[in-house]
Amino acid sequence: MNLIFKTANPNDTIAVCTFDENIENEFLNLINSLSPEEVNDIRNFKNENFRGQKMAGRVLLNSILGESGIIEYNEHGKPLLKSHPFDISFSHAKDNVAVMLSKKTAGIDIQDISPRIRKIVHKYMNQPELDSLKEETYDIHATLYWCAKEALYKAYGERQLIFTDNIIVKPFPFIPGSGTFNGSVVLKNSKKDFALKYEIIGIFALVYLWNE
Ligand SMILES: CC(C)(COP(=O)(O)OP(=O)(O)OC[C@H]1O[C@@H](n2cnc3c(N)ncnc32)[C@H](O)[C@@H]1OP(=O)(O)O)[C@@H](O)C(=O)NCCC(=O)NCCS
Repeated sequence: MNLIFKTANPNDTIAVCTFDENIENEFLNLINSLSPEEVNDIRNFKNENFRGQKMAGRVLLNSILGESGIIEYNEHGKPLLKSHPFDISFSHAKDNVAVMLSKKTAGIDIQDISPRIRKIVHKYMNQPELDSLKEETYDIHATLYWCAKEALYKAYGERQLIFTDNIIVKPFPFIPGSGTFNGSVVLKNSKKDFALKYEIIGIFALVYLWNE
């Protein structure tokens, strides 16, 4: 695996790796320290790319912690790190895997930037967010909004959030490279605000919570 991005503050650690076909061997080195159930679950994924992504997540987690982490999932599919006192979040895109560990709240998403996003913007963006997009940076900027909403969705960790209404991103200008912005999870009787950061890594957009 190749580390392509890493950053940290006193609360959060974020790392992104690319992996290749050697990931099956790298995962083999870990299996004695994982539960047999987890190893079986991962090995039983028939889709090779998906299996590689799951394995890469575990290998990257191991390299951040310096030892194996025990993961369980809640009824909504949110990963819980049982072995260490951190909130955890995973994301994958093609042969990339991203992991965030946080003493506070973790949420991360990586996605390739593509014009396909134009077909779905109205499903996840509200009008003030859409108004901030400019034609010359439309695809990349809209992808950042998508990643931000996925990262906030993972931070909240439960289903039944409507992206246009319950996950709100404060409109922000697109600046090439990296930037900071804000988002909220808004429910009937509560609102939780989060700081977010983004990075453009080649053709990929990465967004993560930043609990500095
Ligand atoms: C669950 C979801 C966030 C995963 O995102 P994705 O882009 O498909 O895939 P990613 O690779 O970025 O993320 C996968 C990781 O999400 C995590 N995840 C899944 N469900 C989760 C949940 N409820 N809470 C937090 N994290 C979750 C898992 O850790 C998974 O990785 P792992 O299987 O290796 O552990 C996404 O499929 C989803 O359901 N989004 C909400 C859908 C929605 O409401 N869309 C409406 C707008 S059009």
